[in-house]
Amino acid sequence: MPCRTTKELNELVQEAKKYTGKGKVADYIPALAKAHHEELSVAIFHDDGTCVSAGDVKQKLTLQSVSKVLTLALALMDYGEEAVFSKVGYEPTGDPFNSIVKLEFSPSKPLNPMINAGALAVTHMIKGKNEEERFERILTFIQQLAGNSAIGYSAEVAESEYRTSDLNRALCYFMKQHGVIDEDIEELLRVYTKQCAIEMDCLDLARIGCVLAMDGVEPRTNLRLIPASVARLCKTFMVTCGMYNASGEFAVRVGIPAKSGVSGGIMGSVPNRFGIGIFGPALDEKGNSIGGTKLLEIMSAKYNMSMF
Ligand code: DON
Repeated sequence: MPCRTTKELNELVQEAKKYTGKGKVADYIPALAKAHHEELSVAIFHDDGTCVSAGDVKQKLTLQSVSKVLTLALALMDYGEEAVFSKVGYEPTGDPFNSIVKLEFSPSKPLNPMINAGALAVTHMIKGKNEEERFERILTFIQQLAGNSAIGYSAEVAESEYRTSDLNRALCYFMKQHGVIDEDIEELLRVYTKQCAIEMDCLDLARIGCVLAMDGVEPRTNLRLIPASVARLCKTFMVTCGMYNASGEFAVRVGIPAKSGVSGGIMGSVPNRFGIGIFGPALDEKGNSIGGTKLLEIMSAKYNMSMF
């Protein structure tokens, strides 16, 4: 049974909050360093359209790497699997999200679309006549998935990341040299940093997680927003690479498709049951929300969430 009461969910949040003190807010993107590390909020969006939440759920978070799974869906809808996976691979790396190491061993394409190199290659593929149109398409798609046309992006966070993106810039130049991408790198970085700065609350995140949980169908309207094959492919990457080099342990302890971001967001999809949106900005050493991961562990045991 999924959680149906706020009181119950609040208790689980209080339990998981004990771990936030051990984490650290991301500061390599200067604007993210302003977050309060003790915060933890969660929303669960069920397949019948009902929602339960706990914590300060009105707090907004930027998607950061959670956006990678959504741009992957859009690129797959634009071009199909064969074209997308000619530019990016299927395999987990076991390395940190911004590592350049494996690109040297497999220079023809980044190993998967969830690491920074792979996500940059995917954003490179997003259709549009200019950078504004490409970003607009990503934003509109995400608004549709969340059923919320008010979703926008934080210009402050986008700008802050763009100015300090030299590692991602390096990944792009490496891939340009090897023919993976062939566009103006600054333009690509502007689209990518805005995509990462798309801003929403946990409830929006849980709704998107629920669409993926339901294989691409929005449960309230019954509209298909993503083809089932694309939704399944995205969820597979969430299992194998969604929590970076902690994906193996997360699969053992929690056992659901999930995607994290350095702002402290985690989007979870419990297949055919519900979507989860979490915001807890204190991160562990691998860049995943420490309270959020703990909360999912507790929830998984209590609500029998593991698919394994
Ligand atoms: O490209 C970056 O470094 C960030 N915009 C996103 C990285 C991220 O969220 C990694 N997540 N844990």
